[in-house]
Amino acid sequence: MPKTYPPSAKTIANAHITAENYGPMYEQSINDPDTFWGEHGKRVDWIKPYTKVKNTSFEPGNVDIKWFEDGTLNVSANCVDRHVETRGDQTAIIWEPDDPNTTESMHITYAELQVHVCKMANILQSLGVSKGDRVVLYLPMIPEAAYAMLACARIGAIHSIVFAGFSADALGARINGSDAKVVITADHAPRGGRSTPLKSNADAALLHCKESVKCLVVKRTGEQTTWTDRDYNYNDMLLEADDYQKPQEMNAEDPLFILYTSGSTGQPKGVVHTTGGYLVYASMTHQYTFDYHDGDVFWCTADVGWVTGHSYIVYGPLANGATTIMFEGVPTYPDAGRFWEVCAKHKVNQFYTAPTAIRALMGAGNEWVEKHDLSDLRLLGSVGEPINPEAWNWYNDVVGKGNCPIVDTFWQTETGGHMLTPLPGATTLKPGAAQQPFFGVKPVVLDPQSGDVVHGNDVEGVLCIGDSWPGQMRTIYGDHERFEKTYFGDYAGYYFSGDGCKRDEDGDYWVTGRVDDVINVSGHRMGTAEVESALVAHVAVAEAAVVGYPHDIKGQGIYAYVTLMNNQEPSDELRKELEKWVRAEIGPIAKPDLIQWAPGLPKTRSGKIMRRILRKIAEDDFGALGDTSTLADPSVVDDLIENRMNGS
Ligand code: WT7
Repeated sequence: MPKTYPPSAKTIANAHITAENYGPMYEQSINDPDTFWGEHGKRVDWIKPYTKVKNTSFEPGNVDIKWFEDGTLNVSANCVDRHVETRGDQTAIIWEPDDPNTTESMHITYAELQVHVCKMANILQSLGVSKGDRVVLYLPMIPEAAYAMLACARIGAIHSIVFAGFSADALGARINGSDAKVVITADHAPRGGRSTPLKSNADAALLHCKESVKCLVVKRTGEQTTWTDRDYNYNDMLLEADDYQKPQEMNAEDPLFILYTSGSTGQPKGVVHTTGGYLVYASMTHQYTFDYHDGDVFWCTADVGWVTGHSYIVYGPLANGATTIMFEGVPTYPDAGRFWEVCAKHKVNQFYTAPTAIRALMGAGNEWVEKHDLSDLRLLGSVGEPINPEAWNWYNDVVGKGNCPIVDTFWQTETGGHMLTPLPGATTLKPGAAQQPFFGVKPVVLDPQSGDVVHGNDVEGVLCIGDSWPGQMRTIYGDHERFEKTYFGDYAGYYFSGDGCKRDEDGDYWVTGRVDDVINVSGHRMGTAEVESALVAHVAVAEAAVVGYPHDIKGQGIYAYVTLMNNQEPSDELRKELEKWVRAEIGPIAKPDLIQWAPGLPKTRSGKIMRRILRKIAEDDFGALGDTSTLADPSVVDDLIENRMNGS
């Protein structure tokens, strides 16, 4: 039996949720969601209180999700204004720059945050943005990113953040996909000592967008940028902008944001989250999963370009009146002690990061951690992929000194907030398991072939959710049919996560990874189809198949099998050229780690690529290739095995 870790008496004494109240609360959240969420929905301020709580259907052909549907509220009023009355001088956001040697960190109080958000809201309005309009954010991790999110929420505009590591092409597709009126960007984005020219990427993207799209440019580094007729200077406009604006009254089901994420097929889809349910869920999970208390300093190391940054840097913490850290840099710059230096500098109480970062820092050596005073840390969190026990143990022993519970939070862009997670005061921890459902979440294990519910413990299958929870996405922007098909099409009546899982003998859940053609690279989600379509867009490429393979630091690496056009010769230059090409098409995070030249791909007689075989070869697991007799040309497999690339 691997070692387990019950909550300490000290953790329990202070905890919002303990083993005693978890059980009854969970039961009520599942058996009587109207009463449960009717009560917990009051944790946010409503302009017009709701009288209806849950109105949801997972029924095939009629998937429809509404929470608190007749209530009205404003997210920016909840994250800012209501705290100005009670804690205006408290720090809301601590900004920590990329380079601590050249730039000072900043503390922004709730009172100051209100002024910044209102000014940004007024600037957006002066650019013609009003309720329901879409605004794309393409920004570094600077306070203006949070101001812009909250400013959109304040005027009822829908933000769509594009991670600053995405390419101009990816940005352009998202601007057009949401028909945005304004793009907010910055001159440059410093990260890890390097600088990305965001404004010139935005210029390149906007060449393919409607002429009416405006570009609001924030100064970050002050480096020279080109200036076009559609550009507006944020820093100049600030001087004129009014410092107050009344928050718009929004319906609970009005969209708050769109966030693009990858799936197993087609182009990335715009996940839509709405106002009321999302805020209730983000704030409640932030408070309970991390056991956040007033006065604590909370640090989630994610980027606001991902959902983790939306829910646990901005909306959850600020709705709770927390002090939240926004970090512009990377874990290893200027050195491998940066995370721990920042923890010590700002006396961080809860620290939330991804296994890929933990593995990288573990490799750098304990001395980087031991140099810094981490005595304020009370809790550690993990997110993005299953955490391997070795990394868990290091996180626990070396970072947490055995005193900090670790919450391994399983969730998705689609779920808005945590789905499966230990609760620090309630759960006996098992390294590597996400363990227990959060309130309102009804996990169901299904047999992948029959779709039957698998009952009892010590079982395996695919992870589905049996009923709606308030933070759930409502639709795919502009394509409700795709929403139904993607998430409810495989197993009628259930939300399908795309992950496999097991439920162990104690009833704890272990998420084992994606069962579809989605790979998880450093906690970033990538559709293999997306990388393939980028590769085949290159003139030299006839065909491409992309799979994941185990990678020591990234969790999964990107393995591409490429068949060249007849007139093309394979070469190292061409390999580099293809890597560069994919970076430009999607972004650096999509660059293949390994490219194998494949004279042929294993296909069935009907022409379907057998990815199962390609995965096994990439995993170096030739013994498990299974039946290859149905292949149109079984001999291609021998060639692929012989020429397998060696990665990690
Ligand atoms: C996929 C969602 C929302 C968090 C950031 C990633 C994997 C996420 C865990 C975990 C095992 C995890 C799943 C999921 N995943 N957290 N704690 N244990 N797997 O969000 O990009 O929407 O990806 O990440 O495979 O489906 P995302």
